[in-house]
Amino acid sequence: MPDLTEFIRGMPKAELHLHIEGTLEPELRFALAERNGIPLPAASVGEIRASYAFNDLTSFLAAYYEGMEVLQTAADFRDLAWAYLQRAQDEGVRYAEIFFDPQAHTSRGVAFGTVIGGLRQAMQEAWRRFGLRTQLIMCLLRDQPASYGMATLLEALPYRDWIVGIGLDSDEKGNPPEKFARVFQRARAEGFGVTMHCDTDQENSVEHIRQCLEVIGVDRIDHGVNVLESPELTAELRRRGLGLTICPISNRWCAGDTKAGQVKQLLDLGIRVTVNSDDPAYFGGYVTDNLIEVQRAARLQEEELLRLERNAIEIAWLPAGIRDRYLAEIDEYAAAAGPGGS
Ligand code: ADE
Ligand code: ZN
Repeated sequence: MPDLTEFIRGMPKAELHLHIEGTLEPELRFALAERNGIPLPAASVGEIRASYAFNDLTSFLAAYYEGMEVLQTAADFRDLAWAYLQRAQDEGVRYAEIFFDPQAHTSRGVAFGTVIGGLRQAMQEAWRRFGLRTQLIMCLLRDQPASYGMATLLEALPYRDWIVGIGLDSDEKGNPPEKFARVFQRARAEGFGVTMHCDTDQENSVEHIRQCLEVIGVDRIDHGVNVLESPELTAELRRRGLGLTICPISNRWCAGDTKAGQVKQLLDLGIRVTVNSDDPAYFGGYVTDNLIEVQRAARLQEEELLRLERNAIEIAWLPAGIRDRYLAEIDEYAAAAGPGGS
């Protein structure tokens, strides 16, 4: 098996499952805590890193929400996003759809406009400086009431041109997709793309995937590897050409296994599966690390790696002309570096 690490590093990439708050590295958390006069529960960056010892979604989410308390001003959100975007540029990310969790901030008294305004500044800068294209997906917190989700959707409408889609994240236990049926019906009517987390190995994962398809009518599913437990739902996903945004290193922390074998199975079945980083500052791996892990564990070939990136562009919420340009970029890379290339 040839070493494909350099092939992966050079590949043009797209990332569709990345929580911007999950890119808050301990170093920046420290700097922002100092800037805003906020005490931290740890004395050093090393101590913070050592405290990230999750074994499921709930223990991860506790650290994730605690971490974001240092985010207060538009400049904080700009700095957070800028740090990620520089990293993404270094890794060859050409396009990213970025999740943000406004309710995790508005519930602490930080205004919606402060959050999105700061993120947007960094996104525009990345476009100007690097030609790195990004769009925002607003996630609603599923462990909050549906009425709060609806209120947040309405609050976002003045910013509709800055938001491409609506997602659903946070603690899945006892919070099925159908709880948010009306909110997502409205989101769709307003013209947003629609996606939802069906986290790996949750209680009722398969039932939640069924609701995503049959009740909500999602455009794609975040995580969703448990679809393989249902041949009927797998066939339906394939029939509709829907994609899954899988996050291998996140899976290792929250479900005890990267599920690399399932990525390979889904590829073989012709499902539009993609590989993403989820919350890289907490799980310790950006998108390249995730691709390398899966490639090694499932012994993926160059063509399969290229397929993962083509899948991401095919399921991205982009106009056809722009989509085709990114697909052509992948083709060019394949011709130059792939089998038969130099
Ligand atoms: N919030 C941030 N990352 C998440 C994940 N992987 N699942 C659910 N909620 C999240
Ligand atoms: Zn996620």
